[in-house]
Amino acid sequence: MTVEERVEAAIANRRETVNDAITEQLPIQKPERLYAASRYLLDAGGKRLRPAILLLTAEALADVEPLSEEYCSFPSLSDGEVDVLSAAVSIEVIQSFTLIHDDIMDDDDLRRGVPAVHQEFDLETAILAGDTLYSKAFEYMLDTGAPAERSVEALDELATTCTEICEGQALDVDFENRSDVTTEEYLEMVEFKTAVLYAAAASIPAILLGADDDTVDALHGYGLDIGRAFQIQDDLLDLTVPSEELGKQRGSDLIEGKRTIITLHARDQGVDVDGIVSDDPTEAEIDAAVETLEDAGSIEFAREMAVDLVANGKERLEVLPEGESHNLLEDIADFLIERGY
Ligand code: IPE
Ligand code: IPE
Ligand code: MG
Ligand code: MG
Ligand code: MG
Repeated sequence: MTVEERVEAAIANRRETVNDAITEQLPIQKPERLYAASRYLLDAGGKRLRPAILLLTAEALADVEPLSEEYCSFPSLSDGEVDVLSAAVSIEVIQSFTLIHDDIMDDDDLRRGVPAVHQEFDLETAILAGDTLYSKAFEYMLDTGAPAERSVEALDELATTCTEICEGQALDVDFENRSDVTTEEYLEMVEFKTAVLYAAAASIPAILLGADDDTVDALHGYGLDIGRAFQIQDDLLDLTVPSEELGKQRGSDLIEGKRTIITLHARDQGVDVDGIVSDDPTEAEIDAAVETLEDAGSIEFAREMAVDLVANGKERLEVLPEGESHNLLEDIADFLIERGY
């Protein structure tokens, strides 16, 4: 089996488990339009990578047979039982909140193969749906039944994560108006807007199950490294994958003037990245831009950086016991930069 097949096989049933829990925990109630908009992207699809990482980390730490246990009575490392599935739902609900607001900011009309929430509904409803998901996520994280001290720590991690996502998104928008952004600044922006949610997904189960600080820190580091690599791959896919396959608009970053590791590298090679496409480019225009970026060595440069980050991230998994879940977390790290969607 290829890495992609192994990861898809591992994620498929966990995705189902998470989807069932979302349907149960986030029913469409009154006011219906608000909850329909809140559920809209969750029902439209999504890879569910972050909740899968959370569940696999919990499985590795609690050393249970993968998926053989009821998640709602997950054995904690010391005492009591923890509903790690509620934490997994919380993380996916945060992901959904960030996507709804991100599409407003990035002026993108397509998400998960369907119209973005602000298109399908309206701007007001999209803002409110995002806000609703944001606060619901804290309710779900509080609902795991973990001892109070650990619940508070998990909530603290979630709150810090959300603040940092906003900081990262603010930097992302700000960088559009700057032509002197450095690689270091890009990596910091990406850490905040994207990688911290992977770090939360990997470390929160360790917090809830009562793992020691070194384990929590190592898993957090794993998430940060693979999360940065994930965003670099996202930046690459934006250039190369047709919208129908990606489920979001190809070339959006070039049109919006986003600073990515690819365009930063190209700029340093003398490419006029700001004038690289028109406001409403054809596919052929985007193809030509990609060729320019390829010729400048920028695509290769980004790939190499992502590969290094994944290698570093996988090393941090040494804190976990050997076993199938551990191996799958390594596979997911590889998959993040090999995926084509
Ligand atoms: C998209 O994340 C948002 C980014 C941080 C780039 P995913 O590519 O994981 O999106 P879904 O959840 O599978 O739709
Ligand atoms: C998104 O980065 C990061 C988030 C916090 C959602 P992008 O703007 O690159 O994500 P996509 O490409 O729209 O999914
Ligand atoms: Mg976007
Ligand atoms: Mg964005
Ligand atoms: Mg993107």
